[in-house]
Amino acid sequence: MEQKTLVTDIAADTLRGFSANPKFLLSKYFYDDAGSSIFQDIMKMPEYYLTNCEFEIFSNNKKQITDAFREGVSAFDLIELGSGDGLKTKILLQFLVDNSASFHYIPVDISDKANIDLVKSLKSEMPFLNVNSKTGDYFQEVKKLNGYSGLRKVILFLGSNIGNFSDEEINLFLWQLSKLCHKGDKTLIGFDLKKSPDLIMKAYNDSQGHTRRFNLNHLIRLNRELNANFDPHNFEQHTEYNPLNGKVKSFLISKTEQTVYIASLDQNFHLKQWEPIFMELSRKFDLETIEKLAEGHGFKVDKIFTDTHNFFVDSLWIKQ
Ligand code: AVJ
Repeated sequence: MEQKTLVTDIAADTLRGFSANPKFLLSKYFYDDAGSSIFQDIMKMPEYYLTNCEFEIFSNNKKQITDAFREGVSAFDLIELGSGDGLKTKILLQFLVDNSASFHYIPVDISDKANIDLVKSLKSEMPFLNVNSKTGDYFQEVKKLNGYSGLRKVILFLGSNIGNFSDEEINLFLWQLSKLCHKGDKTLIGFDLKKSPDLIMKAYNDSQGHTRRFNLNHLIRLNRELNANFDPHNFEQHTEYNPLNGKVKSFLISKTEQTVYIASLDQNFHLKQWEPIFMELSRKFDLETIEKLAEGHGFKVDKIFTDTHNFFVDSLWIKQ
């Protein structure tokens, strides 16, 4: 049943994206089982500094961060949106468990396989951890979490996942998050910061071709799930960074004039030679913008945690 709803969503979203000008696909569909595994390869590359930075931040500040979560409450729900393999979060979880904190961990991810693997590894690494995973889209799951329990909430949204959102989506998401939170609830959000364009480009245009495979996998998914006939060889991956607005944009470019048939939509789509498909936004932020986002949605920035290079920030907000 759940699977069916997801398939309908991908069909509707693909139809919408391929009927638009310029064409686009939604980056949330990168994360099927194969895509989640390619993303793990991306995270392992030294060029993809984001993961290493947040890992360093958590390792160096686990006491300060978890003390802030626990401040003034006897128990809390720790909800993570887009938990993936949970590698970084485990640093905080382990520290909380070691210090006998009373909390439930609720990882939410769009990939069922990622959830199953994460829960399995947590059960063996931290047998006393109370964990209950949920599979689904952030926006839908956040809505469902409303009234989940009466406990103080701490919501994690790490890894600069927020960078994937358009301006409208950021506002919608933070508005939903704000509505979900009661006064005193907290959220820890990871933001990738503006930095040397050269370093940013290396992270999104890697020499090993993982990013390229990550993008092409989206087309392979459409072939499988919507009976489409994309030939990945007919596409080239391209990434650009605009230092004026901090936006990294990723595209697949049609190398030839071609017609693609998507059987589940019973429709042909024409691509001109060199026509781009917009695949993903990975926005870079600055501290002023982050503060404005917090205050504009009823939160106050309580503390910020950065890595030694100031490449990345985890910003802790309190609902006012
Ligand atoms: C998981 C959304 C944070 O945008 O940096 C990595 C995904 N895309 N390389 C990002 C991604 C290309 C990643 N996020």
